[in-house]
Amino acid sequence: MEPLSSQAALDWVIDALAMELAEAASGPLSRRLYLGLRERIQAGRLAPGSLLPSSRRLARELCLGRNTVLAALEQLVAEGFLETRPGAGTFIADLPRLAGSSPASGLASAPACAAPGTATAVALSSRGTRLLGYSPGSNVRPGVFTPGLPALDRFPQALWQRLIRRHLHRAPTDWLGYQAQGGVPALREALCDYLRLSRSVRCRPEQILIVQGAQQGFELIARLLTDPGDRVWVEEPGYGGAKACFEAAGLELSPVPVDDEGLRVAAGLPAPRLIQVTPSHQYPSEVTMTLGRRLALLEAAERHGAWIVEDDYDSEFRYGQRPIAALQGLDNGGRVLYVGTFSKVLYPGLRLGYVVLPELLVDPCRRANARLHREGQYVVQSALAEFIAAGHFSRHVRRMRDCYRDRQARLREALAPAVSGGLELSEGQAGMHLVAWLDDHATEAALVARGVDQGIGLSPLSTYYLTPPGRPGLVLGYAGASEAEIARAGGWLCREWLALREERGVRDASGPGARA
Ligand SMILES: Cc1ncc(COP(=O)(O)O)c(C=O)c1O
Repeated sequence: MEPLSSQAALDWVIDALAMELAEAASGPLSRRLYLGLRERIQAGRLAPGSLLPSSRRLARELCLGRNTVLAALEQLVAEGFLETRPGAGTFIADLPRLAGSSPASGLASAPACAAPGTATAVALSSRGTRLLGYSPGSNVRPGVFTPGLPALDRFPQALWQRLIRRHLHRAPTDWLGYQAQGGVPALREALCDYLRLSRSVRCRPEQILIVQGAQQGFELIARLLTDPGDRVWVEEPGYGGAKACFEAAGLELSPVPVDDEGLRVAAGLPAPRLIQVTPSHQYPSEVTMTLGRRLALLEAAERHGAWIVEDDYDSEFRYGQRPIAALQGLDNGGRVLYVGTFSKVLYPGLRLGYVVLPELLVDPCRRANARLHREGQYVVQSALAEFIAAGHFSRHVRRMRDCYRDRQARLREALAPAVSGGLELSEGQAGMHLVAWLDDHATEAALVARGVDQGIGLSPLSTYYLTPPGRPGLVLGYAGASEAEIARAGGWLCREWLALREERGVRDASGPGARA
């Protein structure tokens, strides 16, 4: 936490002090005020140089006598925590940071938050530790190859701001209160039409629950429909975001392999309570699940009494073919919960997604969501409903489809010499990333390490697997960077791959088995 710098921040501290001083406690009031202020200055909560209100105003706001306030302030000035400047007032002094003090700790004497791995690192739960295993380090910044990042530079910001302003003006007062309707009705209606027409989802608007992104949908589903220790089938390789939610819910994750027809449900797998799939565009392998596999999956869910979580995260972006119909549309048994997101089509910071629920789950899920996460963002939801209904959404999707097709072409062009040399790329019929399959883990690790040196983040495919060592490769997002950036970074990757191959070839040729 940064030190509070504004005068408004000082006002919050004074409010907090007023409450503390109003509580019955032992000790003279001037001493308690002195200690309260000193603690906050020492902890770095108040920015050095901030002007303190006059003693008269402080006395009024703290409901103290002026002499009580003056006594505390004089003591703090005497000890160097405050400075007086003639004619200007009393200011927070600029103190050197004490060892062990942290602005976030609140108290100078409290132990500082230590970096992980140091002796005083915070003790997480085992579930928390596993959860962090799916999260990038806090110093990892999105870059040119970040998977799943859309073209933020192409988002129609001015139009969006106009819509937000308009809906803010029109917002009924009750939108400021707690809500439990499952989301703004106009958004659920617009979404229902869109999903029926373009994704063959069968639903009524009432079955749609608006959530804060797919991630919240996964979390809600896991908490409401499973108990700790229950089993979830996850795709192998698969999406870490969903796996993190299942870990956090205490589930047993069973990796089920994906081949070129999609999830391969073989006999003998332990019975699941939940099954997570990306049938339209498997993440990250890009496979589209065949009809036969879809029917087999629905049959397996029925047999086990399991729920299927269909994650349809980027189906809008198909190049060439029409989007594949959703699995949900084939489901006659009410087993599929269809999860969608606006993170890819619009932008991830929007934090809006949705779950299309089987009829029986509408009421429990809506109530659980309102209890666990609360509903909100009704103004934004309402603006989004108009964005969809007025045709801006489909226009934006069409534009982004063209943009991503071009960006993918640029990446293929940059990698072409490597592809001629044997690098295998996924088909790229849909979505926002390509997979570059590699021959061995050493190449994967070397490329990732060289990327770090260049400030280019590469996502190793093997980290998408639960069963080590996983297939080596790289997941290359191409949607979020300009064509020039893609060409530059793609050219670098191509050169590195060729260089590594040559080095390895040289090593192989001079290794123990090499002929003289
Ligand atoms: C496979 C997959 N599902 C879902 C999501 C969307 O998540 P959210 O809506 O929480 O941003 C992503 C985003 O990266 C994803 O890659």
